[in-house]
Amino acid sequence: MYKIAWLPGDGIGRDVLNAARVVLDALKLDAQYIPADIGWDCWRNEGDALPARTIEILRASQCAFFGAITSKPKEEAEAELAPHLRGKGLVYRSPIVRLRQMFDLYVNLRPCKAYRGNPLNYREDIHIVVFRENTEGLYAGVEFFPVPENVRRALDESASAMRAFQNVPSNEMALTARIITRRGAERIIRRAFEYAQQHHFPTVTLVEKPNVLRETSGLMTRVARAVACDFPRIELWEANIDAMMMWLLKNPQQYGVLVTSNLFGDVVSDLCAQLVGGLGFAASGNIGDTFAIFEPTHGSAPKYAGQNKVNPIATFLAAKLMLDWLGEAALATRLENAIATVIAEGKVRTYDMGGTNTTLEMAEAVARAL
Ligand code: NAI
Ligand code: MG
Repeated sequence: MYKIAWLPGDGIGRDVLNAARVVLDALKLDAQYIPADIGWDCWRNEGDALPARTIEILRASQCAFFGAITSKPKEEAEAELAPHLRGKGLVYRSPIVRLRQMFDLYVNLRPCKAYRGNPLNYREDIHIVVFRENTEGLYAGVEFFPVPENVRRALDESASAMRAFQNVPSNEMALTARIITRRGAERIIRRAFEYAQQHHFPTVTLVEKPNVLRETSGLMTRVARAVACDFPRIELWEANIDAMMMWLLKNPQQYGVLVTSNLFGDVVSDLCAQLVGGLGFAASGNIGDTFAIFEPTHGSAPKYAGQNKVNPIATFLAAKLMLDWLGEAALATRLENAIATVIAEGKVRTYDMGGTNTTLEMAEAVARAL
């Protein structure tokens, strides 16, 4: 029996995880789902959006299934703390970003496939799979404001380009470091090529900007060219992030596997998701070597919370990714086929698809089609 940590979070996270249980129960997956708290209520009442007891549950599980959470900027988060927790220097940090780093879930896998008959498809022949590096790059959390004197001095002494800022005081300057390691680049790029090989994609496209970000994107490019040598049947394409935004709108059907660093991957995967129906269809796997967290890509959509209204298909596709990762290939295929059938029939549609069906009606339709 699998032990799966079950983290609805808040907002519509609860709606879509209820729906996912209907489908997983109908599939008769042999699993124990262990509920755990995460998100905005935990922050407000306990001063920690990711309580220690939740981390313990995750450590005792094979993988986790996560709904969505509300996140707010620093000052707003502080203002919403329970009165007895205010003024204690508690700082809000997104628990999902923390989990990715804590469990070294370095792959963010985001398949974007146009299911036939989805009225929201940009084209019917799109099948792109994004591999986004999930632990380093611009989201590593190495940030300063103001810039500390020792950091400032090191920059001034080591980078001639700092001359452009010589008249700017350190307390008028914010700095975020984009850290790319050879190990980080190598493992995300290798996973992308392995996936392409396994799923018969002819190309892997590296999406970076090495002509401007010469060191960080440069390292990604050198590593990608080296890794590509181990996969002679797969072609490495290289595209700049800005041009890629244009190519993906012009010829999305030409692309297969994309691989990129953290921020670029965040951007690219939202665009790709929109090409195949938007947030109601976008699922992610946060995957490391021994642990993984699966989730719909969307957030907590507070205005729809508790209304049994949003589209749970993104969450079902996340369940499909989880089944693949657990090695339950037959169940994964059955689930994906059932989702595809319900979309193609077009009888049950949530509001985003132009219909009036509820979250749970969609779950029941998919469960019937299994
Ligand atoms: P959001 O993804 O929650 O919702 C944006 C809009 O997309 C919604 O208002 C709705 O119109 C649509 N939408 C989202 N999910 C849908 C679904 N399943 N079916 C149909 N339509 C759907 O993004 P927003 O409004 O920017 O953020 C709300 C909160 O969620 C914020 O606090 C944000 O920080 C947080 N967030 C959390 C994420 C996570 O838990 N991984 C990811 C993104 C945002
Ligand atoms: Mg995002």
